[in-house]
Amino acid sequence: MKPKFITLDGIDGAGKSTNLAVIRRWFESHDLPVLFTREPGGTPVGEALREILLNPETKAGLRAETLMMFAARQQHLEDVILPALADGIHVVSDRFTDATFAYQGGGRGVPLQDIEMLENWVQGGFGPDLTLLLDVPLEVSMARIGQTREKDRFEQEQADFFTRVRAVYLERAAAHPERYALIDGNRSLEEVRADIEHALARSFGMDV
Ligand code: TMP
Repeated sequence: MKPKFITLDGIDGAGKSTNLAVIRRWFESHDLPVLFTREPGGTPVGEALREILLNPETKAGLRAETLMMFAARQQHLEDVILPALADGIHVVSDRFTDATFAYQGGGRGVPLQDIEMLENWVQGGFGPDLTLLLDVPLEVSMARIGQTREKDRFEQEQADFFTRVRAVYLERAAAHPERYALIDGNRSLEEVRADIEHALARSFGMDV
């Protein structure tokens, strides 16, 4: 079986952390080799950039921010993601390029064609086999972020920023339904879990 590259994405407060545990258990129960990683991050360079990017003190313009996301991604692909896939290990990344389109494109206003250009340069034609996109209404996202004690640089943004972020995620999922599993995260944990397991099983060609 060709190893899969799966990403989990969505606006802050959509429930990624809880559902990463669901994905972990699914791989364990199917005895499939898998590596979990995250963006920005996943390598020493990526984690150093993450510190800068999430630090509320950082004053970075929208282009510098976008380039840092892709710098982290380049190193992540080269050192972690592609080698794992070449070794026959599935990779699950907590966020990937969809987040750059949504946050830097939608949120900050970087033209989407500029992001596409960087995507082509850094990734060639490479991208996820499956993206699990967790979606919640803005009020739910804002309420969950509101409970975070120390908000990072993105979590400090206002509702209109997250409205734009969410809109780009939803547009991308609608444009490429074959690659995305759009999951309504505003339901019981059980219902969300069932949808995630269903999407994973379908992607692996298992009977569902
Ligand atoms: P998280 O660990 O909570 O997902 O935090 C990562 C933050 O970084 C989140 O607010 C989204 C943001 N981000 C971007 O703005 N662009 C990107 O390309 C990525 C990967 C993350």
